[in-house]
Amino acid sequence: MLADIATIQRLKEESRNWPSIDLDGKQTAELELWLIGALDPLSGYLDESEVQSVQSKRVLGNKTPCGTAWQLEVHERYAANLSPGDKVALRDAEGVMLALLTISENSPALPGQTRYLAGELTGMERPVHFAFTTLRQIPNAVREQIASQGWKAVVAVSPDILLTAAEAAFLDAWAEDNDGGILLFCALEGQDELDFASVHAVEMVAARLGKRALLVLLGTDPVLPLMSLVAHNYGATSLFLRQEVALAQKRVFKANQITPLVLPDDIMDMGTNGLFPEAEIALRLANPPPDRRGVVVFFTGLSGSGKSTLARALQARMMEIGPRRVTLLDGDLVRKHLSSELTFSREHRDLNIKRIGYVAAEVGKHGGVAICCPIAPYDQTRKEVRAMVEQYAGFILVHVNTPLLVCEKRDRKGLYAKARAGLIKEFTGISDPYEIPMDAEVVINTAELSIQEGLDVILKLLRDYGYIG
Ligand code: ADX
Repeated sequence: MLADIATIQRLKEESRNWPSIDLDGKQTAELELWLIGALDPLSGYLDESEVQSVQSKRVLGNKTPCGTAWQLEVHERYAANLSPGDKVALRDAEGVMLALLTISENSPALPGQTRYLAGELTGMERPVHFAFTTLRQIPNAVREQIASQGWKAVVAVSPDILLTAAEAAFLDAWAEDNDGGILLFCALEGQDELDFASVHAVEMVAARLGKRALLVLLGTDPVLPLMSLVAHNYGATSLFLRQEVALAQKRVFKANQITPLVLPDDIMDMGTNGLFPEAEIALRLANPPPDRRGVVVFFTGLSGSGKSTLARALQARMMEIGPRRVTLLDGDLVRKHLSSELTFSREHRDLNIKRIGYVAAEVGKHGGVAICCPIAPYDQTRKEVRAMVEQYAGFILVHVNTPLLVCEKRDRKGLYAKARAGLIKEFTGISDPYEIPMDAEVVINTAELSIQEGLDVILKLLRDYGYIG
């Protein structure tokens, strides 16, 4: 679907005067489907009348059987100044122009409603990928392979289905009976370990099926009716379904010359139970049980509350337990090595905590244990750190709530005396706020518990959560 080189060159030069729309990851992946010819014969994003035709008849007025409202949803700031006839450069996250959109319709601005742009596309460039490049085959190339195999029928398996052993055997038999093959689709929608593992798992299934299967990676998992168009363009004649679909969907399948191949009742949908062992292992490795996942233990509390002491005791114990690596991000040490230029203003404290959170999340992502012990006086920032970490690892907030009076009496660094004397400004607890957490997994008062007792409370919690055996 790409324009010829001379046209691309000319459009690139002209594009300097056009407005741009930066597509998000999903929009880029969908546009890529169009660019590689997987959405033929759609010529661009649908306008309102086409969408209505799709919704009532499931096919376009001109009988283009896409079965779904393929539209470009855009932010108000993009849609505001565009009118029919305008040319817009559609760009990926790196700013590369992937296609030219000639606007045919701009949905009216209604309060609270999303804006859509419709119009013809001119393909310029396919997005660049670095992962699984050999699997990202375009429809033409796959159709050629199917032809050279001499397959008479081809069943496609959509990316959201990871075949169980029984399903694979069923499709293998079907392919043999029909003198055909199996087209396994997978999708890489993110950059997480699990996203990669799900591709590996499909590779394992493809390896089991051997010469009967072809494997194709898409940037996104198309919704079901659209998938029948994608499957058709890749040369499939059937689409594997775990269960029957509605009549309306069947009509789209038919228009796309795709026959549904429904899993027979006697082969159960066993979920991940019936997977090939190696596919299951691939998934399991990326989704380890809690005792092999990363975990962040984040202590918060006043200066002198006992955070550092508890943290060092926990560090030693976690290293004794093993086998995970342990990183200690102590407030004072972080301020020396990572945040040496920061003050104790609210803004700088937040920055300090976010840096700690970022490093802790990285440690957690790689399966390690990070123990952090800054004061972290602000609730909102602690919550941001939690959210950052929980994408990848476990997060346990320990509030060390030793009373201020006790911390001040201990005054191991002599800082409270200085703060009282006004020599240190903005001192937490004296002249600066400490927001008590309401979301701490555990609260420890070192005025009442010894360090060993406090440590035991934390270890019990880690055990209850499954982070240690
Ligand atoms: S935080 O607010 O950004 O989380 P952090 O834990 O890094 O603080 O640093 C706290 C340590 O810095 C305290 O234990 C204390 O030794 C020292 N410190 C120096 N000035 C202040 C201050 N104004 N408020 C709190 N701690 C201070």
